[in-house]
Amino acid sequence: MIQNYKNLLSPFTFPVSGIEVTNRAVLAPMTTFSGNDDGTTNDAEVAYYQKRNESAGLLITACAYVEKQGKGFHGQIGADTDELIPSLKRIADALKEKGGKAVLQIYHGGRMSPPEELLDGQTVSASAVAAERPGAQVPREMTQQEIEHTIQAYGEATRRAIAAGFDGVEIHGANTYLLQQFFSPHSNRRSDRWGGNATQRMTFPLAVVDAVKRAALLAGRPFMVGYRLSPEEMENPGITMEDTLQFVEVLSTKKLDYLHISVMDFWAGSIRDKKDTTSRAQLIAAKVGGLVPIIGVGGIHTPAEAEKALETGIQLVAMGRELLMEPHWLKKVKENTIDQIETELDVNAQEFLSIPAPLWFGLVSRTGWIPLKK
Ligand SMILES: Cc1cc2nc3c(=O)[nH]c(=O)nc-3n(C[C@H](O)[C@H](O)[C@H](O)COP(=O)(O)O)c2cc1C
Repeated sequence: MIQNYKNLLSPFTFPVSGIEVTNRAVLAPMTTFSGNDDGTTNDAEVAYYQKRNESAGLLITACAYVEKQGKGFHGQIGADTDELIPSLKRIADALKEKGGKAVLQIYHGGRMSPPEELLDGQTVSASAVAAERPGAQVPREMTQQEIEHTIQAYGEATRRAIAAGFDGVEIHGANTYLLQQFFSPHSNRRSDRWGGNATQRMTFPLAVVDAVKRAALLAGRPFMVGYRLSPEEMENPGITMEDTLQFVEVLSTKKLDYLHISVMDFWAGSIRDKKDTTSRAQLIAAKVGGLVPIIGVGGIHTPAEAEKALETGIQLVAMGRELLMEPHWLKKVKENTIDQIETELDVNAQEFLSIPAPLWFGLVSRTGWIPLKK
């Protein structure tokens, strides 16, 4: 059946950088667990990006740590030293080869870092409060000096992304990592200027945004800055939708190119209040969508689903797992061969899909992560 995905296939200009994409599909950031121990990439990972460089118009990398103390995964890429610029450039080049726009996601794991990946085996966070998961280490509360150093590290990582040829950076403020830990009343119990009420808990993430924006201004070419956030936390105390609506209002004044709302199911309602059934991205778009573009994500597979999400008032739609299974997603939409879009992972197609072994192993062995076609 011939379908006209008029929203999905319409171009979009990011308002602050002026960077244009030819469609509304986004490759969501996905860690591959496949980099080298020194934070560099390798041929297998570059092939993975190259394979997906036409999967969407905006292509976001796996998260890269801004300092070693923030390393969050085995096999994670780094953006913490100038020596890593050539490695980052390999990824930027692979993503941009077919005209897509490449964005580096910049990251600090905070209390979620695996201690064994850290030089001193000790995680850090806003406060010395362990995450609510079995065996979680109690992090060390960051000093004022460390906080300032980390803010600078985000700026420095941005400078390296520019030098590597990326079109932008996405600040990873989602998925329970350090920036979210500062905004969260669960992990931030500070009584100095970095903690307190919701407004005070924004201080660190906003300082990071300012440092990144300052670095971006020195690019000498259009360069975008986006911010990814998780709208709610399950914990008590934890981030509520009310907190987030306040936060996005402030973020919308920061001249960001987009806000990326990280949830596993775009259509799901509140994880805190079962009676609140509206999509989180839709609520955020209703609040600030006129001021800053919104990227939605979570469980989108078909172009019809993407189009439906775009009709809720968000500007762009990201896909993660779908573009692992189907690297030619956008091409098939444009060519109207949508019935050939894969929505299950073909367990015999690792080589064809160019998925590096550590990521592949995770996908095929972890139940419920991805639908498998056997
Ligand atoms: C293998 C894998 C790795 C991921 N790594 C990241 C990451 O590095 N940064 C991030 O913000 N989200 C990460 N995510 C979350 C995705 O970006 C996305 O938000 C989530 O998978 C929901 O979208 P989907 O249903 O389209 O996959 C990852 C998800 C998967 C499946």
